[in-house]
Amino acid sequence: MNEVTSVTEAQKIKPVPTLPDAQTVTEVQHYTDRLFSFKCTRPASLRFRSGEFLMIGLMGDNGKPLLRAYSIASPAWDEELEFYSIKVQDGPLTSKLQHIQPGDELIVRPKPVGTLVHDALLPGKRIWFFATGTGFAPFASLLREPQTYEDYDEVIITHTCREAGELTYGRDLIESIKNDELLHELMGPEFHEKIRYYPTTTREESAKMGRITDLMRSGEAFKDLGVEPLNPQSDRAMICGNLAFNLELKEMLEEYGLEEGANSDPKHYVVEKAFLD
Ligand code: A2P
Repeated sequence: MNEVTSVTEAQKIKPVPTLPDAQTVTEVQHYTDRLFSFKCTRPASLRFRSGEFLMIGLMGDNGKPLLRAYSIASPAWDEELEFYSIKVQDGPLTSKLQHIQPGDELIVRPKPVGTLVHDALLPGKRIWFFATGTGFAPFASLLREPQTYEDYDEVIITHTCREAGELTYGRDLIESIKNDELLHELMGPEFHEKIRYYPTTTREESAKMGRITDLMRSGEAFKDLGVEPLNPQSDRAMICGNLAFNLELKEMLEEYGLEEGANSDPKHYVVEKAFLD
């Protein structure tokens, strides 16, 4: 029996859960030596809003669960859960998590939380999703959420990564949305025409180079997209990336006159950091 056959066999046999809150990994995809995504079964009791995160992980060597916050990359209506992760070679969790295979068990605590939810924003005309690196994950969920298209005329997703290969997950996801029959059924045939995708790289040549923050400051991003700079009357925004990016962009949005919202006090933008190892 070769290796591929044994993985398929493992998938057929649903393992008896031995971990607390155990779910079964159903699919793993590697993009670069730093990035991968995986899917797992969904806890029957789990209800969440697209854009929220969960604590997930594996059993540590000390016999205690080793958990980290992960944005759910799949939409709230999906039967399975999807996550998008960095691989840190000496990271306590991701050094192990990067080796998971279909059929393996994963701990998924069914308690969703998060600020990147539509409930935290006032109605608007255009929504901006600003991501760096694995910060794309919550937007992978929100881009497949019908409410995104019900609430806005235009959906702009910017994604800044170091290298071109790190854009693959997001690019493939947006491409798959355009051809997804179920999404078309849920949202109508033209919903994806509202999506404007603006990928940029900072350390490797690509069609658009530079940090999104710099491209906005210079006006180049707005010119490329054919829109005016953000304003609190029409624009709403969600930010998810590394800490420096989140802080810098938050400051820029405040300068445009946007105010930070919360579940209990919806306003113009919300921010979250990517949860890295
Ligand atoms: P840069 O290569 O210029 O640092 P990381 O992998 O370190 O989390 O970074 C992901 C992407 O976010 C990189 O392209 C990086 O650009 C960019 N980035 C880092 N800090 C900022 C910031 N303060 N504003 C805008 N982009 C940033």
